Amino acid sequence: MTLKFQNHNHSIMESLHILIIDDEKVFRDEIREFLENESFTVSAADRPSEAFRILEGNAIDVIILDIRLPEMDGFAVLEKVKQLYPFIEVIMITGHGDMDAVIQAMRMGAMEFFPKPFRLLDMRAAIKRTRRFIDLSHRLKEVNKSYQLLSKDLRDNFGYEIIGSSKGIQQVMELMRKVAQVENTSVLITGESGTGKELVARGIHYLSSRKDNYFHAVNCSAIPETLFESEFFGYKKGAFTGANDDKTGWFETAHEGTLFLDEIVDIQPNMQSKLLRVLEDKKIRKLGGTSDFLVDVRIIAATNQNIDSLIQENKFRNDLYFRINSFEIHIPPLRERREDIPLLMNYYTAKLSKVLNKQITAIDPQVIASAMAYHFPGNVRELRNMIERAIILADSDRLTLGEFTFAGFNPRVTLAPPNSELNEVFDLEEVERLAIIKALQRTDYKKIDAAQLLNITRQSLDRRIEKHNIEV
Ligand SMILES: Nc1ncnc2c1ncn2[C@@H]1O[C@H](COP(=O)(O)OP(=O)(O)OP(=O)(O)O)[C@@H](O)[C@H]1O
Ligand SMILES: [Mg+2]
Repeated sequence: MTLKFQNHNHSIMESLHILIIDDEKVFRDEIREFLENESFTVSAADRPSEAFRILEGNAIDVIILDIRLPEMDGFAVLEKVKQLYPFIEVIMITGHGDMDAVIQAMRMGAMEFFPKPFRLLDMRAAIKRTRRFIDLSHRLKEVNKSYQLLSKDLRDNFGYEIIGSSKGIQQVMELMRKVAQVENTSVLITGESGTGKELVARGIHYLSSRKDNYFHAVNCSAIPETLFESEFFGYKKGAFTGANDDKTGWFETAHEGTLFLDEIVDIQPNMQSKLLRVLEDKKIRKLGGTSDFLVDVRIIAATNQNIDSLIQENKFRNDLYFRINSFEIHIPPLRERREDIPLLMNYYTAKLSKVLNKQITAIDPQVIASAMAYHFPGNVRELRNMIERAIILADSDRLTLGEFTFAGFNPRVTLAPPNSELNEVFDLEEVERLAIIKALQRTDYKKIDAAQLLNITRQSLDRRIEKHNIEV
């Protein structure tokens, strides 16, 4: 079945278009008159077939739906509406005191429900609440669209994607987009090992106007002090014994591009001041050279250490810190943005099974639930390696817990860090229960979203909620 997305050309501020589906004419007319007085646009249908005809040709925002109808009952209509038009909100009208119907309607995604008869003022309040909800979802959709555009840009120019729907990663992407537009500002990227610092640095380069020039990545901890100047600045032939040819330094290579200084805090203090001078003057002179060369590079530095304490211990120069830290982007560790875990698992499973020539089509929900409860000290890199090993091990088209045990990922042997509410969870059932509670909390108890987060069906979530006796 294909989704039909509403073409909401009208602005949100304009009046909502409401469709009443009820077979009682008196009732229809009464609500219609009331809502039209409230300056809503109103359509009405006395039967489902008529309603779906109206839905085909109109951008409806809200449906007021009776349960007892000819042709099919209100639940069947609700189900079909939610399938075909997921963005339309539905207010159900239920028989008085029919709690079962109310619960079922809510389960199926109805926004509000009313016993018949009801006060028109209450109906107005419900429509107002629904409208606020619709406004919010519109705004969310706009935000989402801007991330999708950014992702597409990254894919097109860079070939890689940054996966994640968490607030943390979306903030990172927003900062990337903004700093990419100013081409000289230095950037400092902080975050634990494996959180994607280099990925973000490359992303900024490929989103910027420097993208057609070099992105040159340098690991500062790997440079011996004696080679610092020749590597960074280059040398002229004959500058010292063994300098048989001119050598291009890293600043020159990255001219008009981006120089990525990974593990910047590992640069020795006296070299730090040399680096600072270049960053201030934007000039380099090759060893043995007689003239200066103006360099135009954007510096992106990264570290997984705490710079503040290194400054306090006099291991890192304050002035260099201020120079490189005009714009800081902190990437939160994966355990602080757990909703990205299932997305990353799916992404890498799809991507790596192609690379490894395997047809893996699914990940067992238990694997996802266990991963959600795992603290990933190695962050995304660890997750990626874990998936890669599991794919190599897999004998079927599914990844199951069995493929993960040896990877240090078995929840029975892996302790969450102290203070974590998931501390010492050995019981798989308990891991599942906690993952479900967490997913519900993260999604404000919207079960559809929670199920998606957990990568299980809505029905399966309902069963598990019942099994674990979770209050929702
Ligand atoms: N949000 C993400 N979406 C997709 N892949 C990611 C994401 N974050 C990180 N990765 C992948 O995880 C791996 C580690 O990322 P990266 O090398 O950028 O981490 P890092 O922070 O530089 O780590 P280290 O501090 O150890 O150098 C890479 O393969 C990268 O592509
Ligand atoms: Mg790195």
